[in-house]
Amino acid sequence: MIDGKFAILAIESSCDETAAAVVLDGRDVRSNVISSQIDIHKAYGGVVPEIASRHHLDNVNWVVEQALSEAAEKSGCPVTMDEIDAIGVTYGPGLVGALLIGLATAKAYALATGKPLVGVHHIQGHICANYIEHEELEPPFMALVISGGHTNIVEVTDYNECHVLGGTRDDAAGEAYDKVARVLGLGYPGGPLIDKIAREGNPEAVEFKRVFLEKDSLDFSFSGIKTGVLNYVNSERQAGREISVPDVAASFQQAVLDVIVAKTVGAALDMKKDKIVMAGGVAANSRLREMLAAECEKHGLKLYHPSPILCTDNAAMIGCAAYYKYKAGGIDDLTLDAIPNLPL
Ligand code: KG4
Ligand code: ZN
Repeated sequence: MIDGKFAILAIESSCDETAAAVVLDGRDVRSNVISSQIDIHKAYGGVVPEIASRHHLDNVNWVVEQALSEAAEKSGCPVTMDEIDAIGVTYGPGLVGALLIGLATAKAYALATGKPLVGVHHIQGHICANYIEHEELEPPFMALVISGGHTNIVEVTDYNECHVLGGTRDDAAGEAYDKVARVLGLGYPGGPLIDKIAREGNPEAVEFKRVFLEKDSLDFSFSGIKTGVLNYVNSERQAGREISVPDVAASFQQAVLDVIVAKTVGAALDMKKDKIVMAGGVAANSRLREMLAAECEKHGLKLYHPSPILCTDNAAMIGCAAYYKYKAGGIDDLTLDAIPNLPL
């Protein structure tokens, strides 16, 4: 316990961020240390799983020690494993080798200290990031989980209870951003670069198809638009015409976001939810935030999103999710395994 509150040491290593945090009573973050490998993977245009695992291995102990020492500094008292009450860790979904490093570390701490181990679903963590920054936020609400690996509309009915209403049938939204950025020669990760350059472009310059799928479906498909952008760029270049990268980026983004916003707001209204919560790396997108805010205002819905540092992968969100799982009796034993495609 620290300051009379339940203290969780949380570890996250599902993709290319090695992260550890100390979180009290689920929402009071005393440290949130993130060691990002983005610069290493940039050279390859995407995350290389084997390289990610190796860097997690190099970094994880240091990141945990740093999280404890920053928590001690912020709390003005010692924070060692003695003060920690439970260990939270992401066990899926993600890259299996990457997950295993964080999980093995968490299990080692649990075994050595006898403290409870709490396995967390990565997406549940992303949703929980919102509780940290919005004190008044409580379920139920509609969540839009949108990252490099996921695009889901999720009905959150309680802290540990949610129903996936729709998801992508092919690429995740972040994946589409990253692939289109590569086609446009922008670099990696593409989402923030498209976000920035699209602000200088005309979103109506190129008409890309909006893919809504069947009537009433809350599923998504983004592989078509990726091919659409590729075909457009190739045909313009073959015809000897210059393309405007800001215009193509803005038009691609508008086509993707028109569908995401319509489906998310539609789901909230249909299911009588008065709050929409954004989560995941793409939730940092400035245009998405603007569009959702405008639609929410029109329909009297309240919109929540975490600040950018809590949108991308971090361990504070895992500490928050672990707290609510622990409170509901959700303790795992040392047989807990990494599950790369763990369903929500
Ligand atoms: O949640 P996250 O950090 O990792 C996963 O769990 O996937 O999300 C990373 C994804 C990447 O695809 C990245 O390009 C995208 O989030 N992203 C953005 C923005 N910032 C990050 N996409 C659009 N606009 C942004 N501002
Ligand atoms: Zn993530």
